[in-house]
Amino acid sequence: MTRERSGQLGVGVAIAITLLLTLGREPGLAHKEKHTPEQLKAFDDVFMQQVRLGDLLFHGDEQTQKRLGVQLSTTGMSCAMCHPTAADTHPHEFPKFQEQMNKFATLRDMINWCIEKPNQGVAIPVDSDAMKALEAYIIWSNKGSKLDPGRH
Ligand code: HEC
Repeated sequence: MTRERSGQLGVGVAIAITLLLTLGREPGLAHKEKHTPEQLKAFDDVFMQQVRLGDLLFHGDEQTQKRLGVQLSTTGMSCAMCHPTAADTHPHEFPKFQEQMNKFATLRDMINWCIEKPNQGVAIPVDSDAMKALEAYIIWSNKGSKLDPGRH
């Protein structure tokens, strides 16, 4: 090996070691500081605000739909009429194969399926505020359910 080649090799090894040390340290750093009770309360407030918004959407509140620019139903039926208190929405079973769509589906896919099929509404973008709020309400309503992905 020439002197130049072994020099390059040395630099390469040094970069690799530095990268390993930096990457290896990050997960530890992320958990180093405990959240204060004030921070935890703030996080919970944000979450519950989304749950309440989702609750309004799930019960077909017109004003909230207008404000967010969505039309979740045109049949006069809200989600809650078929799924009282989010019954049979099974968020803990996703992702799973859905026969109705003939594909491996996420909870958000299924929310859009219900908007389009039984509700004859307009599907919403999967990363929209309305989708996040509906998801928050459905998951909060099923709190305590054991994760069981793929189940039917
Ligand atoms: C007219 C009745 C009806 C309405 C209204 C309705 N759904 Fe559904 N929903 C169904 C049926 C039927 C299924 C399929 C159940 C199954 O998977 O066998 C379903 C399934 C679901 C599932 C998946 C459950 C699972 O385990 O596969 C979710 C999530 C869901 N609905 C959410 C919603 C949301 C959100 C709305 C409002 C936008 C809504 N539904 C409105 C009838 C309804």
